[in-house]
Amino acid sequence: MCGIVAYYGPNNAYEYLIKGLRRLEYRGYDSAGIALLNGDLTIYKNQGKVSELEAIAEGNNLEGKRGIGHTRWATHGEPNTVNAHPHQSQSGNIALIHNGIIENYATIKKVLMQRGHEFKSETDTEVLTHLIEEIQVKEQVDLLEAVRLALNEVVGAYAIVILSKNDPNTLIAARKGSPLVVGIGKESGEFYLASDATPIIEYTNQVTYIDDNEIVAIQDGEMSVKTIDNVVKSPFIQELQISIDSIEKGGYDHFMLKEIFEQPKSIYDSMRGRFDAENLTFSMRSLEEYASKIKNLDRIIIIACGTSWHAGLVGEYLIEEFSRIPVEVEYASEFRYRNPIVTEDDLVIAISQSGETADTLAAIEMAKDKGATIYGICNVVGSSIPRTTHAGAYTHAGPEIGVASTKAFTAQVTVLTLLALGIAEIRGKITQDRLRTMFSELNTIPQKVDNLLQSCNEKCKEIAAIYKNASNCLYLGRGYNFPVALEGALKLKEISYIHAEGYPAAEMKHGPIALIDEEMPVIVIATKRNYYEKVLSNIQEVKARKGKIIAIVTEGDEKVAEIADHYIEIPDTEDSLTPILATIPLQLLSYYIAVMRDCNVDQPRNLAKSVTVE
Ligand code: F6R
Repeated sequence: MCGIVAYYGPNNAYEYLIKGLRRLEYRGYDSAGIALLNGDLTIYKNQGKVSELEAIAEGNNLEGKRGIGHTRWATHGEPNTVNAHPHQSQSGNIALIHNGIIENYATIKKVLMQRGHEFKSETDTEVLTHLIEEIQVKEQVDLLEAVRLALNEVVGAYAIVILSKNDPNTLIAARKGSPLVVGIGKESGEFYLASDATPIIEYTNQVTYIDDNEIVAIQDGEMSVKTIDNVVKSPFIQELQISIDSIEKGGYDHFMLKEIFEQPKSIYDSMRGRFDAENLTFSMRSLEEYASKIKNLDRIIIIACGTSWHAGLVGEYLIEEFSRIPVEVEYASEFRYRNPIVTEDDLVIAISQSGETADTLAAIEMAKDKGATIYGICNVVGSSIPRTTHAGAYTHAGPEIGVASTKAFTAQVTVLTLLALGIAEIRGKITQDRLRTMFSELNTIPQKVDNLLQSCNEKCKEIAAIYKNASNCLYLGRGYNFPVALEGALKLKEISYIHAEGYPAAEMKHGPIALIDEEMPVIVIATKRNYYEKVLSNIQEVKARKGKIIAIVTEGDEKVAEIADHYIEIPDTEDSLTPILATIPLQLLSYYIAVMRDCNVDQPRNLAKSVTVE
């Protein structure tokens, strides 16, 4: 949440800042602002989108070879122009951008106010800006030392970048709990900073990921890194593996649609090189390294939030079916606060697309403290979660820019499938025949997804046109398709603002059935191998109450197709692999309904992609 960018170098900063903010807008779009250092500090900021900021800035002085920029997801203070970043110090000489929350800002603010500081905004960030200046003046130290001392006084999470009018050849940045990447530019003394690598990739592929409690100083064209305890560090420069195409719309109307259509490739990439279908072996280093731990496991706990939590539920079904280990799936936000029983014998699987979700990170730290082994399943390479877990597997789905998660979900489920099979193999719970069947079926999934996308796209559009004005919607599924129902409902509500609920199909009669009338669309996942007859009965129960049925069925199905108001066919597959296929039409349905309702599909209201606050 909140995106930050900064430039230091021989060229004008403005273009990078604006382009970078557009790329990071998925992290928040309540307000946007930039500061340019050009002898003076020139600041433009505004409530609303980056495009509005651009309109304000255009035609004005946009000079400045150092600059910082911010796109905000409001936490402290309403989303207006005054609360927009950058914030300035008491004298106005220091400008600062911040992603995170300074938890003890109220205490610091009170003390600073007693010393005569006046604050313009309601934000926690402005307090930090004033604190840095207060320390610099009082202690007579340089900007770097003032930032270091200030960070020792704050409690909370931050990625910050600071410019000072009095130090035109200096830019300071720091992180704790919120992400920060530095790109090493092609020209001498040129640096690009950002919350993630997407703004940087256009300019350089050489980056270093800053760790928690580290401060980066760029002074006179040289970069140095030290901790807030004053320990000097050597930055590890690595090459970025993402391409510029992967972060552009590529002819699609929205990132979400592009990402839905990328799934044949992203699913393939998430399994590529991880198993050998002929020799029935796995090539997942994390499985090899933890083989003895896996053999002796009593229990697995899966922690995640939102869509990743839904993938975790599919993971529970997979792991319990194949490896017969009990699995508990927990919302990270609940798990971290309820003093759960976690022991050294537990394996905790943390799932996160962004790798930055604050609750998931905190839950990991807590489980680690209790001695558990933590396995991460993340998409963003170099993000915080993979760097704090003991082992893990990247999903390799490529950058997901649309705020609603699509390809990340199917990649997570694919990796969880491999993990379930791998654990089963290590524990001797799966026969060679069954493994062979699963591997060969997995190999067909990318092609099946491709066929499905082609065959169901128009149908999803037609159904969307019929139900676009619905005010409620029910999603039902059993077994592996229950988490799919939850995910379908989440997708619809978050991008179209239609109220939707997912339920295990059999639970319908314990309450939700009361909602069913001729106005209520009920989306039922009724595939052949997943309790088909039982779901058929549930469909009859809905029909008897005049509900409208939109059924997801297996190709060639006749029974459901006959009684449903609408049906969408998906290719036949193993019951355990159905979630990957059944999710696709639900994503498309939500997408088209949202588009037809004129909703901002890629940036739904109130949401942000990387939830770095709890
Ligand atoms: C829904 C969605 C969110 C995220 C959740 C967790 O479409 O994107 O529910 O799944 O915020 O985010 P990650 O996976 O980054 O931890």
